[in-house]
Amino acid sequence: MLKNILHKVGNTPMVSVEIDTKENLKIFAKLEYYNPTGSIKDRAASYILNHLLQKKIISHSTTIVESSSGNFGVALSAYAKLYGLKFICIIDKTTLPINEELMKLYGTEVICIDKPDPYGGYLLNRIAKVKEIVENTEDVYWVNQYGNKLNALAYFNTIGEEICSEVPDKKVDYLFVGVSSGGTITGISNKVKQRNPDAQVIAVDVEGSIIFDGKPRKRFIPGIGSSMKPSILSYAKIDDVVTVDEEETISACKDLFQKHNLLVGGSSGSVIAGIDKYFDKYPVKEEVNIVCVFADTGSKYLSTLFNNEWCMMVREKTKKRELLSTLK
Ligand SMILES: Cc1ncc(COP(=O)(O)O)c(C=O)c1O
Repeated sequence: MLKNILHKVGNTPMVSVEIDTKENLKIFAKLEYYNPTGSIKDRAASYILNHLLQKKIISHSTTIVESSSGNFGVALSAYAKLYGLKFICIIDKTTLPINEELMKLYGTEVICIDKPDPYGGYLLNRIAKVKEIVENTEDVYWVNQYGNKLNALAYFNTIGEEICSEVPDKKVDYLFVGVSSGGTITGISNKVKQRNPDAQVIAVDVEGSIIFDGKPRKRFIPGIGSSMKPSILSYAKIDDVVTVDEEETISACKDLFQKHNLLVGGSSGSVIAGIDKYFDKYPVKEEVNIVCVFADTGSKYLSTLFNNEWCMMVREKTKKRELLSTLK
């Protein structure tokens, strides 16, 4: 019996997924939307706040502050409420209304940034606002998912362990993880390499993200990619990077729903599209175990990823941009 549903973090289901056109790929996905607030971020939010309180790095009078446009903000809101902590979340204009409403429902103070940064995104201005709050607030703690080792440690100790013990024959040949703040891949890659030194870790990024030196441009799929290089990634063990675009992500999300009854968010579609693309380039002759992470549910994206008009809009804008760049 649980005292509180928020204690039920982790031990999410692992399911097998097939790509019709590929032989020898045994793909296993961790369904992270089975966490209490619906995403992988429950793991980091609960782990970090719990650790900080236990080690007396913060107290119940500390104000927690973080920049997040989505899942992490929702998860931190829930666990801040659970632990009786004040939380200020800096979001931006692109934050899904459902995420903003959820944060407020949990009692979080939400500050929305509407001025884009030089990359056309909002991240840099969100971080600037966090720094301003930190300078002007007494007894404040900035979670800083892009640089806080606790973020990676949360995944190292939880989902990293689960993956290594649940995968058939306890053998991980490949690990594919979508990257944004970098915490997930940093934590899991270290655990997987500790147990399977020969495993190949492949980071999945999206067109328009600059994490792995891509060219910056407007991105439409939330939860993956970034307009800044996360410092936490210097601890990650990454062997290769595969970059996918919006079309590939959208079509993978639709396939996962139609063929596997998995209603997942964009970063999960990107990961499957990334696996498909990677093994087009490097086909394998023998069966390999591939583990990947489906970070959140598609139910939040019914009016975007799963909406034909939205997908058409993305296609049109992408075509127009490609045309303009060929004319330059
Ligand atoms: C849906 C989703 N997928 C993947 C990620 C990437 O995880 P990380 O930030 O740990 O790199 C995030 C991060 O916000 C996310 O919200």
